[in-house]
Amino acid sequence: MCGIVGFTGKLAAAPVLLQGLERLEYRGYDSAGIAVLDNGAIRVEKVSGRIAKLCEKTGNGALVPGAAGIGHTRWATHGAPTDQNAHPHLSNDGRFAVVHNGIIENYLELRKELIRDGYTFQSETDTETIVHLLEHYYDGDIKAAVMKTAARLEGSYALGIVCTDTPDALYVVREASPLILGVGVGENYFASDVTALVSHTKNVIYMEDGEFARLTPGAITVYDCTGRELQKPISRVTWSVEAAEKGGYEHFMLKEIMEQPAAVKAALAPRIHDGKVQLDGFELTGEQLRDIHKIIITACGSAYYAGCSGRYAIERLCRIPVEVELASELRYADPMVDEHTLVLVISQSGETADTIAALRECKSRGAKVIGIVNVVGSTIAKLSDHVLYTFAGPEIAVATTKGYTTQLTVLYLFALYAAGKLGRMDADRYAALVRELQHLPRRIQQTIDMNWQLPALASRYASQSLFFIGRNTDYAVALEGALKMKEISYLHAESYAAGELKHGTIALIEENQPVIAVCCNESLMDKTLSNIVEVKARGAKVLALSFKGNKKIVSQADDVIFIPRIETIFSACLAVVPLQLLAYYAAKGRGCDIDKPKNLAKSVTVE
Ligand code: M6R
Repeated sequence: MCGIVGFTGKLAAAPVLLQGLERLEYRGYDSAGIAVLDNGAIRVEKVSGRIAKLCEKTGNGALVPGAAGIGHTRWATHGAPTDQNAHPHLSNDGRFAVVHNGIIENYLELRKELIRDGYTFQSETDTETIVHLLEHYYDGDIKAAVMKTAARLEGSYALGIVCTDTPDALYVVREASPLILGVGVGENYFASDVTALVSHTKNVIYMEDGEFARLTPGAITVYDCTGRELQKPISRVTWSVEAAEKGGYEHFMLKEIMEQPAAVKAALAPRIHDGKVQLDGFELTGEQLRDIHKIIITACGSAYYAGCSGRYAIERLCRIPVEVELASELRYADPMVDEHTLVLVISQSGETADTIAALRECKSRGAKVIGIVNVVGSTIAKLSDHVLYTFAGPEIAVATTKGYTTQLTVLYLFALYAAGKLGRMDADRYAALVRELQHLPRRIQQTIDMNWQLPALASRYASQSLFFIGRNTDYAVALEGALKMKEISYLHAESYAAGELKHGTIALIEENQPVIAVCCNESLMDKTLSNIVEVKARGAKVLALSFKGNKKIVSQADDVIFIPRIETIFSACLAVVPLQLLAYYAAKGRGCDIDKPKNLAKSVTVE
């Protein structure tokens, strides 16, 4: 996600802002900028690319005088990572500048309304609507303008605002996006992340949703959403800068696992309106969808496994045949692809060489391509006919976690959207599935909360080669669970369709062989249970993964990991979470370099 910082005091603001932005670099970003109040005007400097470029452009801040300002690192979501789309954004009258962390879900309708009212836009961002709303509502009372603006915004936001009429003041607002105020002596700060504050002050005020505040060098005043002044406690941060970067977690991977409820919410929220799924700025009509004879999903690694899960959702809901192909194979397969083929290309980075090659191969044969991508402006995003961004935010750990679950989420949304357009679902079922999807973030959180025993299970099961088994959607989860285990713990792990065991693999089952059995598909429960009985009869110890309340599984498996009950087609999004944690604790127990496993790169840009 993006990062925001602010400073007001007696010193030059720009160097403090640049230093704060550098502290946020670890989160990943693609452009950066600052806005400083000086002599009744706002000076904005912003660049696409690294903060070092911004430092160079501003003489490390010395060329931007002024003692109050705001700064931003941007991770592109709406619009490519260009200079124009970088924050801060200025109002047309030059009176306000804004930085924003989060997503404004209703920005398209606000943008239309503001253009109708005569405002001109310099960027493609959702954020720019905010600064024009401030200008629109401002009549000399900033507090009122901020409150009226916030009331119009749907989505998540932590905002930093400056106004030329109050030359030493900063304004901040928070809704569903982190925001912390730093309390100094004769100077005050704000930031989206405590990392940017701890080298200046350890005294902080945590802002809550719906609150806004005014900061001057000598005072901080916090208000609730009705404008009533609040007395907020000052807390003391004890973290070092290093610990603060990881939000207190020992590894980025664990932090990113824990971020999944928020990441999945970010993928869902902008696309569900009035109980209906919408795509981002494009539509597929029933007629266009009926013209599609098959869908090919292509990707590598975990993104490919997300496709394996997504296939079940699309086929079941839309009744369109889906093939899931490894991009490294598809590119050389002389694929049977034509203008009646829709290709879904999945990639977190958007830069995976094999995936790009497979995309080009399919496009050259006439296929329509939808990219399911996390990194805005990446090669795959640019080459695709349409893009559905996953909005996972930057993923730092090499092993993908929130990247994968947000890919699943987008595939579920696509399946529901297409099924609705094709008229292949009755209205009640459609509405029930949309509701179920909206509960996903909460269910992921419950899954995390109910699995406190995973460190102990990891030490019991992850000490030698492991088998992961499952059927159908559970098999797709087993594939991803085994990959996670392999790549970070360096233990040999294999996944098998449970029904395949007896065709050869069962010969490998010996006394004490760990088997992880994924059993979240109720209609196939008895089938997988019989596979559990088979491997147990040969001495295996079985750790099963199933939904809460499944008594049958308790009587058969040695240990059970539970997830909340959920529609089978969406179960992968929950079931994978304990498997990510199992791999994490296994790797931790074995002393592995969890965030940077050996021989692996985050983005595989060569063949
Ligand atoms: O950036 P992409 O999603 O295209 O990357 C694809 C794979 O390289 C990636 O999923 C890889 O398998 C991960 N390390 C798995 O955790």
